[in-house]
Amino acid sequence: MRVLVITGAGVSAESGIPTFRGQDGYWRNLDPMKLATPEAFARDPQLVWQWYRERRWRIRNAQPNAAHTAIARLAQFAGEFLLVTQNVDDLHARAGLPKEKMVQIHGNIFVTRCSRCSWSAEACSGGRNHDDHGPGEPPTPPRSADDALVRCPKCNALARPGVVWFGEQLPWHEVQRVEDYLAPGGCDAVIVAGTTALFGYISDWALRASRGGGQLIEVNPEETPLSAFSTQCLREPAATALPRIVDEWIVATADQ
Ligand code: APR
Repeated sequence: MRVLVITGAGVSAESGIPTFRGQDGYWRNLDPMKLATPEAFARDPQLVWQWYRERRWRIRNAQPNAAHTAIARLAQFAGEFLLVTQNVDDLHARAGLPKEKMVQIHGNIFVTRCSRCSWSAEACSGGRNHDDHGPGEPPTPPRSADDALVRCPKCNALARPGVVWFGEQLPWHEVQRVEDYLAPGGCDAVIVAGTTALFGYISDWALRASRGGGQLIEVNPEETPLSAFSTQCLREPAATALPRIVDEWIVATADQ
């Protein structure tokens, strides 16, 4: 069985991580769309860093949910498998999904990289002392406003979270990994869970992967631009629908 799974913020919602466009997405009444931009960082890097540190803290204190676990199980069971996630959290990895079977197309919130040179480092992710902080990570709580800023240890330029901001290019190498996976042709099954699927590349990958008669299953309490193309729309929370789907596939395959 050849499978592609695409996830968005809705899959981490049941772990207590706010989505972007849901009411819970606002931070200090600030629209995430206005914070996750190079312009916002240029205008007020302290504010942007405070937002990302709070998000890191929240993710470290969160646990993968049944949707993350089901996807990790599916990866073990499927003959060919790739997850493309828009989520910058580490919950898929902490649910046991190997990095080689996952593409974080919008980056990783625990990476800190220089805004000028090639320096980057990964801060401590979940499951460790939650007040721990690593290279490129300011102490928590910050001793002064400047503490909230991170500087590159190599060139002293401002460092920034290793995520893709609005208006920025996707990481070429990661895009190539998705294209390489899709090159041989369609998949038997495509699951698109917890995303508004607003970005063209997300719909494009889902539709190309389901070409040739594969299933396209949408898991989302709400409609999205992909609903009309889906062979099945499950209007349920991901942590309810995904374990059931995976169980059914494993049982069905065992019976063959
Ligand atoms: N289970 C499944 N889906 C859910 C759940 C749930 N428990 N809760 C919410 N959803 C759905 C919502 O209905 C919505 O369609 O998840 C979606 C979340 O949408 P967004 O907040 O827009 O998140 P996402 O689609 O991941 O955004 C894509 O946009 O903001 C940028 O870079 C950011 O990666 C993000 C990208």
